[in-house]
Amino acid sequence: MDLILFGPPGAGKGTQAQRLLEAYRAPQISTGDILRQAVKDGTPLGQRARPIMESGQLVPDALVIDIVQERLRQPDCAGGFVLDGFPRTVAQAQALDRMLASLGRHLDRVLSLEVPLEVLVKRLTGRRSCPTCGRVYHLTEAPPRAPGACDACGTALVQRPDDAEEVVRERQATYRRQTEPVKAYYAAQGLLREVDGTGTPDQVFGRIRAALDKKTA
Ligand code: AP5
Repeated sequence: MDLILFGPPGAGKGTQAQRLLEAYRAPQISTGDILRQAVKDGTPLGQRARPIMESGQLVPDALVIDIVQERLRQPDCAGGFVLDGFPRTVAQAQALDRMLASLGRHLDRVLSLEVPLEVLVKRLTGRRSCPTCGRVYHLTEAPPRAPGACDACGTALVQRPDDAEEVVRERQATYRRQTEPVKAYYAAQGLLREVDGTGTPDQVFGRIRAALDKKTA
């Protein structure tokens, strides 16, 4: 299954990609996670990406296209993948089509998680994550068992710099301006399915499974 999880910041792409990984063994390819790791490691890519990410803008297409191109060639992607946060521009979508064609494969489905703006803002400003193992929480919707500590490894949870409310609103504006047009690109190819992203993560995952089952039925 070669799949894209699409949707605005905070729609639940990362949360659902984890469930897809467990259910379908398809690795999650998150350009946001790869870029954040580069920032943490202080690589040239990370140094270039950091101020852009912290302002809520998009990193240049050429940089993320190179990242995905390299990642798709890794052996764990041979049986399928879940792309999370890529493509975010029509140019990235076109580059992905070329990459997949060169590998002799094609997308099976693009699932777009639909969530109202004010719910997105609440989700992102309340998000906390573990800097050690990457597990994601929410202060009220998915709190850790012990306040402020990761359930899996006990590390103190942190807030992403781009989850401050003013940056969250800028990220939403960037999505509407540059990323939402990608939906029309995939709708024209007959690949797009919109999925209601409200409700609990389990309810959303149930809808995702139903959308994927319909494809194979
Ligand atoms: P990226 O890391 O991709 O961020 P994003 O798309 O803004 O998505 P998020 O990770 O914020 O949200 P999500 O949809 O994964 O939601 P999550 O599951 O965590 O990108 C960051 C930056 O990197 C970009 O701004 C850009 O600068 C750069 N970048 C990355 N890719 C790029 C690209 N291709 N091109 C150019 N630049 C790129 O959930 C959010 C919160 O809600 C969590 O707390 C979670 O617990 C909670 N939650 C999830 N689902 C539910 C639910 N059903 N009910 C209640 N709470 C829920």
